[in-house]
Amino acid sequence: MDQKDENLEIAKGIYWVGAVDWNLRDFHGYATPRGGTYNAYLIIDEKITLIDTVKAEFASEMIERIRRIVNPSKIDYVISNHVEMDHSSGLPALMELAKDATVFCTKHGKAGLNEYYESGGCSNWNFEVVKTGDELNIGSRNMMFIETPMLHWPDSMQTYLKEDKILFSNDAFGQHLATSTRFEDEVEGGAMEDAAIYYANILMPFGSKVIKYAEKVTELGLEFDMIAPSHGVIWREDPSRIIDAYLKWAQKEVVPKVLIIYDTMWNSTEIMAKEILEGVREGGVEARLFHLRKNDWSMMVKELMYSPVIAIGSPTMHGTMFYTVSGFLTYMRGLRPKDKSAVVFGSYGWGGGAVKGIEEILEKARFDIVEPGLQAKYRPYEDDLRACRELGIRLAELALKKSSYLRPAR
Ligand SMILES: Cc1cc2nc3c(=O)[nH]c(=O)nc-3n(C[C@H](O)[C@H](O)[C@H](O)COP(=O)(O)O)c2cc1C
Ligand SMILES: [Fe+2]
Ligand SMILES: [Fe+2]
Repeated sequence: MDQKDENLEIAKGIYWVGAVDWNLRDFHGYATPRGGTYNAYLIIDEKITLIDTVKAEFASEMIERIRRIVNPSKIDYVISNHVEMDHSSGLPALMELAKDATVFCTKHGKAGLNEYYESGGCSNWNFEVVKTGDELNIGSRNMMFIETPMLHWPDSMQTYLKEDKILFSNDAFGQHLATSTRFEDEVEGGAMEDAAIYYANILMPFGSKVIKYAEKVTELGLEFDMIAPSHGVIWREDPSRIIDAYLKWAQKEVVPKVLIIYDTMWNSTEIMAKEILEGVREGGVEARLFHLRKNDWSMMVKELMYSPVIAIGSPTMHGTMFYTVSGFLTYMRGLRPKDKSAVVFGSYGWGGGAVKGIEEILEKARFDIVEPGLQAKYRPYEDDLRACRELGIRLAELALKKSSYLRPAR
């Protein structure tokens, strides 16, 4: 191994062999302004073991990293924690070289890999299906598998390296972040905020599973020296911090904050949004304002996680809400946020329709619509503006009330 790669040995005999995607800006619709990483880990022991792979376009980079440590044909075991293609599409190229390797995965993992890679030679791979508590000896080390169904796919699992106390957690605890270091404690400002964005966009619907998972980890008595996810940096300094943060997000801790999300064609809805914000400010509560075509939706849903109250604004266009609003509502609903209070506002010219349409969707998504929507014809004038400001004050009060029985999230 070259001198320059020494920092890729994350613990004795355990190497990072993944790929950094510095220019990733969109991960299946999730905005990634700081790039991304696909982590794969190679363990050199009596049995040479690879944990996960990378996205297909980086497979040769991963294989080259492996080759600098060991001939890839010498790999005995491949642990496939998750079938999603960002971690598995590098497998066919790897398995071409490591023909005799055994692939360890869950039952759903095996089925998923067969669906994806039938034409990638999957039918020739040796599979071993594992479940929670199963152990695998690789020489001086033992691995234990932990199924994590719906965190975030049915097949998801994690691998715990007992002697080294390293948890290879796959997507859970990850962050979309491109860095030159592999450790969270070496990243300026840490990676907690990026982990929160990741949680909000990928794991928010599965909060109850996160709580159960944390209970399982406690029951198994697992201790962690490192938590090594499949995206972003490794948690090394007090690694349980990230499990505690997940629990906090899963338990839906909120802060006194009002989220205002809107779109606008001729700025009337925007004027209303800003006036609501003034009211919230007057009410002594922080507000965040997001124009739907000028902000990343992935950042907005992170704010949604912390905000007990949300105001959504839209002009009426062709009898209905503006198209970005319906897109955002679709995205937001899928994440199944809970215990959120909402109010709707917007400007219209004649028949209207946006406010009603949004309210219908929010009701179906079980948002608590606290009062009828505010509407301004063409341009908001004094009365409309006063109504917006007063609404803001009421929303601030509500945000305070809804947060008072909960500890602050940050
Ligand atoms: C392309 C277009 C279609 C519109 N369709 C409707 C409509 O179907 N019903 C309605 O009440 N107003 C309609 N309007 C009027 C807008 O709702 C109105 O101008 C409103 O004040 C715009 O708010 P904004 O400044 O926040 O974009 C339409 C406006 C545009 C530009
Ligand atoms: Fe995934
Ligand atoms: Fe992933």
